Amino acid sequence: MKVLVHSDDAEQWRDALAERLPDATVVTSAAPAAERRDADYLVAWKPGAPLLREQTHLKGIVNLGAGVDALLNNPGLPADVPIVKLRDAGMAGPIADYVRYGVLHFQRDFDRYGRQQARAEWREHAMVDKADWPVGVLGLGAIGARVAETLAADGFPVHGWSRTPKALEGIACHHGEAGLEALLGEVMSLVLLLPDTPATDRLIDARALARLPEGASLINPGRGRLIDEAALLAALGPGDAEGRLRGAILDAFPEEPLPADSPLWTHPRIWVTPHMAGPTPLGEALNQVVESLEAFEAGHPQATVDPAAGY
Ligand code: GLV
Repeated sequence: MKVLVHSDDAEQWRDALAERLPDATVVTSAAPAAERRDADYLVAWKPGAPLLREQTHLKGIVNLGAGVDALLNNPGLPADVPIVKLRDAGMAGPIADYVRYGVLHFQRDFDRYGRQQARAEWREHAMVDKADWPVGVLGLGAIGARVAETLAADGFPVHGWSRTPKALEGIACHHGEAGLEALLGEVMSLVLLLPDTPATDRLIDARALARLPEGASLINPGRGRLIDEAALLAALGPGDAEGRLRGAILDAFPEEPLPADSPLWTHPRIWVTPHMAGPTPLGEALNQVVESLEAFEAGHPQATVDPAAGY
């Protein structure tokens, strides 16, 4: 089989795949066009439309990430080629840590103490117990479920929400529109780990933000398009004084890198990180990619992405 690899670290992937699949021909997207053509499989993170269009014999695509939005929105994507995505693959642990940090940032008042330090102000705030700090996790896929379970094990009451009903031990699971309303009314930190689909586009709008309790916080290691940015800024209010929404920690944006003139960079109660919450470690992802390629070859692809659902 011939495998074409496209990613920032394509050479490492090519070498690792060639070692694990000695009978395969593995080339990167930097190879001359004649060598790239007629691949059986594409293993890629955000391939360009021309690269997809030049492939006419693809039997499968392995998305080198958990989110398939960039691939499904690619105008060069061929119809009817099955797509497999990474599931957790070492990302869930670091994302759970990112969220944990974010929840503690607000629950233990690090935002307030940071502002006080700038004024050399020594003032202790009464600590809110974890048991009184419910956290909501929207999206209960491989990553969201791990995040919800981690926070629950840490002692936070956790509410989870998914499109279809799910059951997770120790998590109050909600689904559907009514479930989302109920969850939003309860949680002091809201964590977004939903896929970017037409159904989740700006799900967190002015109405959703207004449902959150006064002083709630937002943590988004998921996708930028889940949030209506104007509504977010309005709910935060300007400056240091805490608005209805206390603060937001954001790792994903509709346009990345976040444009230099975005107001998100300078808002004093927004913390911006450069899509670093869950790096994809090659080691763990490699096993999944090899398994996916072997399953494609054996004629029984693993659970594939549903382009109609968008994830
Ligand atoms: C990263 O954002 C991914 O979807 O894997």
